[in-house]
Amino acid sequence: MIQKFSYNPKINTGAVVQKIDASNAPISFFTLSDGVFSYRMSDAACVYGLGEAMRGMNKRGWIYESWCTDQPNHNEDTRSLYGAHNFLLIDGDDRFGVFFDYPTRITFDIGYTDPSLLTVKPADLSLDVYIVTGDSLKGIVREFRALIGKSYIPPLWGFGYGQSRWGYVTEKDIAAVADQHEAAGIPLDMIYLDIDYMDSFKDFTVNRERYPDFKGFIEKMRARGYHMIPIIDAAVKKEEGYPVYDEGHEKGYFCTNENGDDFVVGVWPGMSCLPDFLNPAASEWFGAQYRALTDAGVDGFWNDMNEPALFYSEGSLNAAFDKIKTHEGKTLSALSFFDTRDVFNHLANSKEDYDSFYHNAPEGRFCHADVHNLYGYKMTESAANALKELRPDEPTLLFSRASYIGAHRCGGIWTGDNHSRWCHLLQSIRQMPGLNMCGFLYSGSDIGGFGGDCTRDLLIRWLSFAIFTPLMRNHSAIFTRDQEATAFGDTEVFRHIITLRYCLIPYLYGAFVKAAENNEMFFRPLCFDYEDDPAAREIEDQLMVGDRLMIAPVYLQNTTGRNVYLPEDMTLVRMSGGEITTEPVMKGRRYFEVPLGDVVFFTKGALPLAEPAKNTAELDMEHLTYIAD
Ligand code: GLC
Repeated sequence: MIQKFSYNPKINTGAVVQKIDASNAPISFFTLSDGVFSYRMSDAACVYGLGEAMRGMNKRGWIYESWCTDQPNHNEDTRSLYGAHNFLLIDGDDRFGVFFDYPTRITFDIGYTDPSLLTVKPADLSLDVYIVTGDSLKGIVREFRALIGKSYIPPLWGFGYGQSRWGYVTEKDIAAVADQHEAAGIPLDMIYLDIDYMDSFKDFTVNRERYPDFKGFIEKMRARGYHMIPIIDAAVKKEEGYPVYDEGHEKGYFCTNENGDDFVVGVWPGMSCLPDFLNPAASEWFGAQYRALTDAGVDGFWNDMNEPALFYSEGSLNAAFDKIKTHEGKTLSALSFFDTRDVFNHLANSKEDYDSFYHNAPEGRFCHADVHNLYGYKMTESAANALKELRPDEPTLLFSRASYIGAHRCGGIWTGDNHSRWCHLLQSIRQMPGLNMCGFLYSGSDIGGFGGDCTRDLLIRWLSFAIFTPLMRNHSAIFTRDQEATAFGDTEVFRHIITLRYCLIPYLYGAFVKAAENNEMFFRPLCFDYEDDPAAREIEDQLMVGDRLMIAPVYLQNTTGRNVYLPEDMTLVRMSGGEITTEPVMKGRRYFEVPLGDVVFFTKGALPLAEPAKNTAELDMEHLTYIAD
């Protein structure tokens, strides 16, 4: 059952698709006082949800803030990430879900200040709150997901393996990636084009020196079996004579400052303007620009920098230089030295900048800070609506960095800029169920880590987990060590693991589509399936995948196995050296050897496997072999 409690929302966020009448009764479970919602948690209560947020699957014991943030240096004490996903599921003496439909900053103190108190504090009391009750955790999620609408389903090839790197510059670099994977016999479906394919980082342009015949190149790569997936950034370079800028400026489609002039920010292209995705006409206009690339045969996109990330604004940069000048030639004390150093450190994504620009939404003019968390969602919606018209016959691959609930209907998300760290591999495992609860089924992390230098063993372990994530993309930052599956000298072990992904696609894609259509989770914490098993509630590093599989990834360096909790008798499936074997395993806690390069997982019933294939086009989805029958 769903109850709605309405507190004068100023804007329709678009998250909810079901019409529900607001209750006149006081909100259930919570008390509301001074604009803060409070709920007393029982000792054993677990709190799930919050989508992409850091820490465990059970979110208890920390404070989180929904405020879409470009935060490449996230760690355990980070409060805000790229997405804002305000859904919680409480499993204690009471069992209920709660969604705070609120477009801007909202804080969830889940036993951080007072261990038994959950407090939720929106910046002001103008929101809708939905309370969802049901007789099981899965049932509550199903009801909530029906409230927010069906999740995006990618094309089948979106379940293929993707190779990406910021640093591939020319078409030769891209073709070399294909050559190297082919030479190593490593399956591959997608190669991503990061910002260097553009002309001076201008959206919807192509650098003609690097890609003399872009359309011909896309066709040639398609004929070889590859989909090219270009990046689109939120901001549009401010440059007269660049048609996207000229038109956006003339028609008033950019966010404006207080005086009504285009608000100018610094991002990759230098001075740029922010399309006003909250303005329906601007959204339609921006979406229509994707045609420049779909006409060239492009069938997938990743939308980036749409928190929106701001390196600086015209005003804040000038103010920073002014401030630095006041210190020039002076002897600096420690404090004034730190102050001087931080002038530039604090320039990016500053509160002052988010407070300084405006949107024209149907409900009226809004200061960006009051609707901040909707920006990435509305960019993805702009693309999704346009792509349905531009490519009506086939689904387009689409995913985004920033998001709010609602964006899950338009595309997937990746979890932003992580690092080549073992703890980020574990974080990625833990993020999946929260994302799924909030509708984001097509998701995954940058395999191998975006920032920092990846090691061979980290890539192997990360891939061994990521073969189960719907979005499976190896991506890394410029100036980091190469981390393609072909980059470490030997390729056989990588070939075996990625080939296994392709063998699993019939099961994985089938489970995904079923989850999307039935408003279910593809990844679940164990306790969602074994509600009466207290031990299952404590498992923070294993996941159920679809109806039948359980995974227990290895995420620690220099370990050759791990402890696994089996909530019931299952069949262990082991891929070792390309060979698949099975053995029955009994319920309970056991240690399993998982040498580097082996993939071990568990099935509760017959598991279909396809024959190995070099890409999804060649995957035979009909003739399957069943193991653990
Ligand atoms: C952002 C994206 C990253 C991309 C880079 C350059 O940091 O998150 O994936 O490679 O920008 O476009």
